[in-house]
Amino acid sequence: MIDDRPVSLLGLALEVASEAATLIRSSVARTDLTITSKSNATDLVTEIDHAVEALVAGRLLEARPDDGLLGEEGTTRTGRSRVRWVVDPIDGTTNFVYRVPYFAVSIAAEIDGTVVAGVVAIPSLAETFEALLGGGARCNGEAVSASSESEPATALVATGFSYDAGRRAAQGQVVGRLLPQIRDIRRMGAASVDLCSVACGRVDGYFESGLRPWDWAAGALIAAEAGAVVTDFTGGAPSPAGVLAVNPGLYRSLRDLLDTCSA
Ligand code: IPD
Ligand code: CA
Ligand code: CA
Repeated sequence: MIDDRPVSLLGLALEVASEAATLIRSSVARTDLTITSKSNATDLVTEIDHAVEALVAGRLLEARPDDGLLGEEGTTRTGRSRVRWVVDPIDGTTNFVYRVPYFAVSIAAEIDGTVVAGVVAIPSLAETFEALLGGGARCNGEAVSASSESEPATALVATGFSYDAGRRAAQGQVVGRLLPQIRDIRRMGAASVDLCSVACGRVDGYFESGLRPWDWAAGALIAAEAGAVVTDFTGGAPSPAGVLAVNPGLYRSLRDLLDTCSA
């Protein structure tokens, strides 16, 4: 019988993410990659994004043929079980193309729509983050926790920008207003890496609008299980309108500040 326990889903996600990370790592230095664009010229996709998605979907569905799957590069499948996998084969494709080391494979498992297990493997940093709902978050097997910084003025805050030019312009304005009021901004270029960075206290908070579920599904669970508060910009569940992940002592003041900067 197929084992639907979150711990078994996490085990499978870890195995598959490790294989995917090996493929990504071995492809970084290739100079012959086929690279095309998607929504516009800034939004890149490579043959490795497709190859990793095929590998991940193939392995997951081979092990669990009744599950559903939502993959960024189009592998969408309605399942017959309560489990759905949400996969970003390479989060941070622009970084991957330019060999900036912040790119990751992100795999989340949902049961009845709730993410119960998540893995983000960052091959260039040799870091694998994982979390189980209610079971804490780990990096390379060691427990991680969000930072304790509580003052916006001394907080390091990560963000990201959409591929859409209009949304980008608005996001730039928010950052322009926020920057003088915090320690600094980081734009790592991979939402999953940003969320894991909140999880291990490498940044104090992260916000972005315009994301899709595969960008945040695994990372949001990892950040939340590491003790961060993870919401949209108004305190609801993360959504394309906004994802905000901040340590608990800073959450309210950063959210209020973002509100002021967005007005
Ligand atoms: C992108 C990255 C980036 C974020 C964008 C995402 P992709 O994902 O996570 O950091 O700012 O909003 O679309 O396209 O590299 O998978
Ligand atoms: Ca992504
Ligand atoms: Ca991607």
